[in-house]
Amino acid sequence: MREPTGVKGFDEIIEGGLLSGRVYVVSGPPGSGKTTFSVQFLAHGAMIGSYGAYITLNEDVDNIVTDMSNYTFNVSGLMELNKLHFVDLGPSAAYGKPQAFDYSVQDFGSEDSTPSPRYIFEKIQEYVTAHEIKRVVIDSISAIKFLNSDYATEEKSISRFMRNLKDLGCTTILLSEMTDPSSYTIEHFAADGVIFMHNFFDPRKNTMTRAVQIIKMRGTKHDCNMHKVKFADKGVMVGGRIE
Ligand SMILES: Nc1ncnc2c1ncn2[C@@H]1O[C@H](COP(=O)(O)OP(=O)(O)O)[C@@H](O)[C@H]1O
Ligand SMILES: [Mg+2]
Repeated sequence: MREPTGVKGFDEIIEGGLLSGRVYVVSGPPGSGKTTFSVQFLAHGAMIGSYGAYITLNEDVDNIVTDMSNYTFNVSGLMELNKLHFVDLGPSAAYGKPQAFDYSVQDFGSEDSTPSPRYIFEKIQEYVTAHEIKRVVIDSISAIKFLNSDYATEEKSISRFMRNLKDLGCTTILLSEMTDPSSYTIEHFAADGVIFMHNFFDPRKNTMTRAVQIIKMRGTKHDCNMHKVKFADKGVMVGGRIE
């Protein structure tokens, strides 16, 4: 089964949508459209009965909701109907609430520490069950502390986190801040799909160019070209290949 993203022009290049129950990574530099793309995915799901949760770990929920309300996704309406949720699981949100979640005491040892994968996963699991969530976005994987001294253990830890997410039965998008699409990270290997959002300077046009590129998508026929991306009030729209 496929989950249409609702992003105009994007579903067409991935055989209709993301595969249900899989875990995807959306990478790109700041301002490339990761949040817009993924809230669009959640809002579209909310309208077709796949309710969504946007888990934020580093940005303030109110800021995200305010920014996303500038688009025509009806964010506030869907939130009122409990079909779209924004959840703050960042260090600032958890600080001061150790009583509520015992395991967070050790996970939030100091004020500037980042949350552990276990804490994040358990909170997401509770949320998914309580609100019949089918689509999850985590912003961002870079903000989760995979407490490991060496690469091999970190790899195991990230893979375990992603396997747990797959077992949730939701279609999940992990956002990751990245500027170089050729420098693969552990989550790229473990994910069922990797989508890269570009925003780069094009000297031919003397301007910034936006594009989206599917680096990998298991079980899906796709090209690996960059496709034009436009931002409008309706959010992200994907166009033809960039030659
Ligand atoms: N209503 C809008 N119309 C057109 N472009 C917009 C609109 N709102 C935001 N943008 C563009 O979207 C960019 C932010 O995208 P965002 O999804 O927050 O990126 P990321 O999460 O990758 O940092 C802004 O820098 C701006 O260029
Ligand atoms: Mg963002």
